[in-house]
Amino acid sequence: MTQIDDVKSKLDIVELISSYVNLQRSGSSLKANCPFHQERTPSFFVFPDRQSWRCFGACAEGGDAFSFVMKAERVEFRDALQNLAARVGVTLSNDQESGGIARQLFEVNDAARLFFQRMLGEPEGAFVRDYLEQRGVSVRSIQTFEIGYSPPRDNRLLTHLRDAGYDDDLIVRAALARETDNGRRYDFFRGRLMIPIRDWQARVAGFGSRALDPEATPKYLNTPRTPVFDKSRILYAMHLAKEPVRQRGAVIVEGYMDAVMAHQHGYDNVVASMGTALTEQQVALVRRLTNNVTMALDGDPAGRNATLRSLESSWGVFQRRNSQQTATSMLQQPDAMELRVAELPSGQDPDDYIKREPGKWPAFVEQAQELFDYLLTTLSARADMDNPDGRSWVAHTMLRFVSQIPDPVRSDLYLDRLSARLGLNNETLRAALRDVRRQSAAEQRRETVPATADEATPLPARDHDAREEDLLTFLLQHGSESLDGAQSVLSPEWFTRSENREIYRNVIAGVGSDEMRIAPELEAHLDALRSRELRLSTQGKREKAWLQMSLALEKEHLNNEIRQLSGLPEIMEDLESPMAQRLLNNKHRIGEIDRLLKPSSPSGK
Ligand code: UTP
Ligand code: MN
Repeated sequence: MTQIDDVKSKLDIVELISSYVNLQRSGSSLKANCPFHQERTPSFFVFPDRQSWRCFGACAEGGDAFSFVMKAERVEFRDALQNLAARVGVTLSNDQESGGIARQLFEVNDAARLFFQRMLGEPEGAFVRDYLEQRGVSVRSIQTFEIGYSPPRDNRLLTHLRDAGYDDDLIVRAALARETDNGRRYDFFRGRLMIPIRDWQARVAGFGSRALDPEATPKYLNTPRTPVFDKSRILYAMHLAKEPVRQRGAVIVEGYMDAVMAHQHGYDNVVASMGTALTEQQVALVRRLTNNVTMALDGDPAGRNATLRSLESSWGVFQRRNSQQTATSMLQQPDAMELRVAELPSGQDPDDYIKREPGKWPAFVEQAQELFDYLLTTLSARADMDNPDGRSWVAHTMLRFVSQIPDPVRSDLYLDRLSARLGLNNETLRAALRDVRRQSAAEQRRETVPATADEATPLPARDHDAREEDLLTFLLQHGSESLDGAQSVLSPEWFTRSENREIYRNVIAGVGSDEMRIAPELEAHLDALRSRELRLSTQGKREKAWLQMSLALEKEHLNNEIRQLSGLPEIMEDLESPMAQRLLNNKHRIGEIDRLLKPSSPSGK
């Protein structure tokens, strides 16, 4: 039994959900107004027999205890697992190492944050307060962003933390102190303006720090990678910006001070990438809140090449995200993420711009261009477009972008735009694109995971679903190419077990990158899936096997809903209700699926 199964077996979903909403009996199930959307008549149901929940209203979502906590607390699978494990008193084996150390690191970081804040208020911090005032940072912003000061001498933080009972090992692991070769320890941050960096869940993960002497290097010194701090997984100020981002989209600036000043002027949907290209993880973070992302670039032509390179990688991240989106829903129009770019006047960053003309910021963000158009314009302005070499350079650079679009329809649209703007023949561009693709495919080719039947670990016998597992095993064994094409549409929703849902999401998210980021607690399950033997014959066409499996999964999902719906007294009361309609729609769709599944039906055409 995996730890996850252990937690599940000790949980009661009715008790869990009751702690969030007021459930009322309704036949063999329980109902409530859905906690995830506004409604007056209950369409949120909990099914004790299957330990599941579902909203038949606007959300049209459902799942198990894990997915409920993920949604209610807006956390990832791992955090939901920790939350539920704590609730039922199961100790996760990783807890002693990673969970335990993580908690301690957050704690010592928070103690350091308080110390730095206090130092800013001391007489010796007066010149730093002056510096902040000169830069126009308000007292309120200093408080909101918890800005502090690290004294330059005498290892004051180290002494303070030791006195408070933290041991040296922890302080060094948090990178608050460093160790010399002969074992002496000293403060890592000295004589700097301190900016605590909180993660998405508002825990102090690390620090950014600015030199106060204009000559000092580096200008910004950040916490190096620790078990809880990884710059590429955090967007600065996100803990403050969550709700505004959800409402108005995200604006991503480069620097800490840019974010601080934007918030100070009420532009609280601004977060900072901390000076690097957007990463997969940062994009995934924003994606949970919005589809609408604008990058506000500093207007400094000197750094332009680096910026263009970083945009190229951000573009790739977005394209991969969007292709996953298309692949996850058959019934809904995919809501592609949009990445737009706005560039500040030369020599200005958002901090300067907002200080100069605070009222103009919204208009500046509004006039952002789609990334592709921005690049095309920028490159065309730099090349000699009257010269064939210049045009060819622009074409080739842009084709590198187009080649990262997995969806052929979308990439065609971009080719059209390119050919119109560059006055080049569409066929020529297409041929050049094939070359670019061939090159990058050769670079990226990788092996798929071979199935080794003899080391198959049996999955826990109870509570598993062969349909879901077949599908995942197939995906894991045959690699992501089985996801190409139109038949690859299936919704994570159709997986009833959160573990499977989570792994499916990660398989999809891993398309195009070698890594699969997965909670360590899921690894045993993942290994078992990888090494399973498929029940189903996958001889012959893979696409056909895939289609059959995905239709079977969808059908099971629809049948589950039908079982749930048929048990509800509400259904009989109002045959026009959305729930009754849903029941009928499901039956209709099952009819379609059955026809599709029938071996080579001659009736169609
Ligand atoms: P900038 O140099 O544009 O900083 O770097 P800034 O925010 O405008 O700083 P001020 O206005 O001079 O105080 C943008 C971001 O890149 C990261 C930091 O996150 C910074 O805010 N950076 C920059 C570093 O991490 N290290 C550096 O040495 C420089
Ligand atoms: Mn600046």
